Amino acid sequence: MRPDNFTFKERKLFLEDVSIEEITKEIPTPFYLYSKASLDASCEAYMSNMDSSDLVCYSVKANNNLNILRNFVDKGLGFDVVSGGELQKVLKAGANPKKIVFSGVGKTSAELKLAADLDIYSINVESAFELKNIIDLNKSPRISFRINPDMEGDTHPYIETGKADCKFGMSEEEALLLAKQFSKEQINLVGLTAHIGSQITDTELYLELLAKLQGLASKIEALGHPIDHLDVGGGLAIDYEMQTNFDPSELVKKIKNKIGKYDLLLEPGRSVIAQAGVLITKVIGIKENGQRKFLVVDAGMNDLMRPSLYNARHKIENISSSENEDGIFSIVGPVCETADSFGDDFSISAKEADHLVIYSAGAYGSSMSSNYNLRLKPAEILVSGTNFSEIRKAESFEDTIQLEDI
Ligand code: LLP
Repeated sequence: MRPDNFTFKERKLFLEDVSIEEITKEIPTPFYLYSKASLDASCEAYMSNMDSSDLVCYSVKANNNLNILRNFVDKGLGFDVVSGGELQKVLKAGANPKKIVFSGVGKTSAELKLAADLDIYSINVESAFELKNIIDLNKSPRISFRINPDMEGDTHPYIETGKADCKFGMSEEEALLLAKQFSKEQINLVGLTAHIGSQITDTELYLELLAKLQGLASKIEALGHPIDHLDVGGGLAIDYEMQTNFDPSELVKKIKNKIGKYDLLLEPGRSVIAQAGVLITKVIGIKENGQRKFLVVDAGMNDLMRPSLYNARHKIENISSSENEDGIFSIVGPVCETADSFGDDFSISAKEADHLVIYSAGAYGSSMSSNYNLRLKPAEILVSGTNFSEIRKAESFEDTIQLEDI
């Protein structure tokens, strides 16, 4: 199985109506490649069952390409940002501040001021110290309390954010105390938000979370703070092996059935964009050491960090219609780290200069990339129908030194 819009025709892999091999003739590898049709379909899956006062705030950390953000603005999405940088970038893409929420455990005073000046939909407050910093601004921006729901998401510990001893959010007890301590005249508390974690496969957990937030919202309302929205975060899983489809529209329907009088807010990242994107790389060479055979490719952990950081397994295929017999390979990058590996035991046929596709790289690929080993960040290409366009140029060596002076 492959993500939607990726199909082999006469042994050539097409994205929508473009042969990826044709793109490699013009764009040097490695590069990220995205499908506009897939992005549009994910937006539609989230938006189709929402009401006009509900908001889908795409989580910008998954991928912050300006053109992609603009596409999401056009589709009516809002944005979940976690830094002044992300906030400025979505504004540059044309986002309406009234559709932006700002999350994160350590917002600086400058970031809080920027958000308050813009009068964004909600600053998601994660601690008592942050609430104090907001009160000190004397602006009374719309705020929500981010609750740590103390829930487990059956996911990698590094992307688990909803357990009691995680750094994110505040306990229900602390939220109630703060709501008691400060009056409606002192704080403009209008929502509650929580994020269970990432790669959530069991959508019943969202209903459990919703019930928690509804219970807390009525207690907070009784203290004189009218709550207008509940934000159940992001985190819906995708299947990196492409066996299961976690349908956002089913999730939205389920939550909408139960949400009652509140507006619904969601903050999806991965489920919007992961399967719409891939990383295209070339085999530099084949070697054997000890018991292992290696395909050494020109993409590395600096381009897609997930396998090294979380042991994540991304499906990889050869798109160069290789005639060789399948071998069992470890697929590794050129970076000087043993962890620079896309995984072992890939059964794949390949020869030098073949092109490989690494799937599910639309989310947390480019946005987590780095210049480690002074490698240059790859280009990003968007396919739409029979066309493709460069939505980010590949970095040049000059780009990497322009802020340094001798
Ligand atoms: N909202 C909040 C408050 C979050 O912390 C996150 C992700 C999201 C929304 C979006 O979650 P998503 O729908 O994308 O699962 N680098 C990791 C993922 C880290 C996610 C951190 N927070 C990875 O590559 O798996």
